[in-house]
Amino acid sequence: MNTSITSRISLLFSTLAVLVLLAMGYVINASVEHHFEVQDRMALEGKLALLQHLLAEPSLDVASNLSLHERIDDALVGHHELVLRLEATNGTLVFESSHAPPNAFLEGVFEPYSEGAFQLHDLSLEHHRFRAVMVLISAPVSGENYRVFLAIDRSIHDTFLENFHQQLIAVGALGLALICLFGWLATRHGLRPLTSMAQVAEGISAQKIQARLPMRHLPAELHSLGNSFNEMLDRLEAALARLNDFSSDIAHELRTPITNLMTQVQVSLSRDRSAEEYREVLYSSMEEYERLAAMISDMLFLAKSDNDQIVPRQEALDLRREVDALFEFYEPLASERGLQLACTGEAKLWGGRLMLQRAIGNLLSNAVRYAYADSVIEVLLRQAGASVSIELSNQGDTIPPETLSQLFSRFYRADAARHRSDEGAGLGLAITRSIVLAHRGSITVRSEQGVTRFEILLPSGG
Ligand SMILES: Nc1ncnc2c1ncn2[C@@H]1O[C@H](COP(=O)(O)OP(=O)(O)OP(=O)(O)O)[C@@H](O)[C@H]1O
Ligand SMILES: [Mg+2]
Repeated sequence: MNTSITSRISLLFSTLAVLVLLAMGYVINASVEHHFEVQDRMALEGKLALLQHLLAEPSLDVASNLSLHERIDDALVGHHELVLRLEATNGTLVFESSHAPPNAFLEGVFEPYSEGAFQLHDLSLEHHRFRAVMVLISAPVSGENYRVFLAIDRSIHDTFLENFHQQLIAVGALGLALICLFGWLATRHGLRPLTSMAQVAEGISAQKIQARLPMRHLPAELHSLGNSFNEMLDRLEAALARLNDFSSDIAHELRTPITNLMTQVQVSLSRDRSAEEYREVLYSSMEEYERLAAMISDMLFLAKSDNDQIVPRQEALDLRREVDALFEFYEPLASERGLQLACTGEAKLWGGRLMLQRAIGNLLSNAVRYAYADSVIEVLLRQAGASVSIELSNQGDTIPPETLSQLFSRFYRADAARHRSDEGAGLGLAITRSIVLAHRGSITVRSEQGVTRFEILLPSGG
């Protein structure tokens, strides 16, 4: 069963409170009872000492029990709670207070008793409870021995204790009720931020992802949870924004070539044309279709890389050989613009051949496209320990620093006005970066004083 935190904490507190109150009640009660026992014992000891004193008086005429009786009577004036029975061991009864129990009864309780023994006994006599002692006292002068039964009525203490118990229970119950109530209220109050967290979470959807938890009202314990929650929302919001941008970019990018195709077809259908003219239209449409197909496959590649679905193969690669092959492919384009392609260094690594060719090829195609005419495009390969660096530089317009960080974004072109149908869609560098990341490497770009330099760092793997 899923009990709420509030009821669990309240239950825990209540149980603890019950235990603490019970323990306190027990200790208080025990010490009060002990206190009464000590008090009773002292009262009994005092009276016994008095009796001993009376019996020890040299003037006491043992035969005259009468005068002894009177003196004891005097000593007991005002002490209704005391019961005394004094008897010489030869059987002569010297004194007996009104409710003193019969000797036969006492002998059953106090057997055997000896001189000096002082042991308190609990007795019930005529619905009253007593603390009682029975001792032997010998009168030094007469040499007579006396058996003394002395008891003190506990009813005053008992009545007090009874009231005390009732009060203790009442106060305890009230205290317990208050502890439970305040414990419950405090827990509920303390957990309120969780409720507000749940409310914020409930209100969040793809369209309304701007809501954040107000951190000011969160207690310290929930700060890191709140922070993580808000950071998660930040990440989701950013990812969602990227996704939105990406899909609107896709729509935008597809619209232009399709509009071109439509216009072309409409124009050619507007009147009769020769077979030659139709063929020309089809050829130029073909180019547009190829561009579209290339763009769609690039987007698919990026979508896969987003889902970690591109896993590079592990082949032994000689990068120098791959770069030379790429140079061969780009040579015609480069020489058209009077560009020279140069490669220095060697590097070997494990990776996916086609993917790395594509990554370096994208850099090279950009360089060939954006380098100043009649300049040199240089590729520098280096192997350093467990990593490999591929550096590609070309001379051309310096890319402003604020633009550099965006070069790797999808559909980004530094100069939007330059966008013509013969130029790319702006996916090349995004794909290069995805490939490098899939190989657990990194890519950076610098552009200073007319030289733009891309550097890829890859683990040589194996
Ligand atoms: N070597 C370079 N020199 C100057 N600018 C560059 C260079 N490489 C890339 N850029 C800038 O970065 C932008 C993005 O490059 P990217 O390769 O991603 O796209 P693209 O070349 O425009 O299109 P695609 O590669 O999809 O055909 C380019 O439009 C260009 O403005
Ligand atoms: Mg490109």
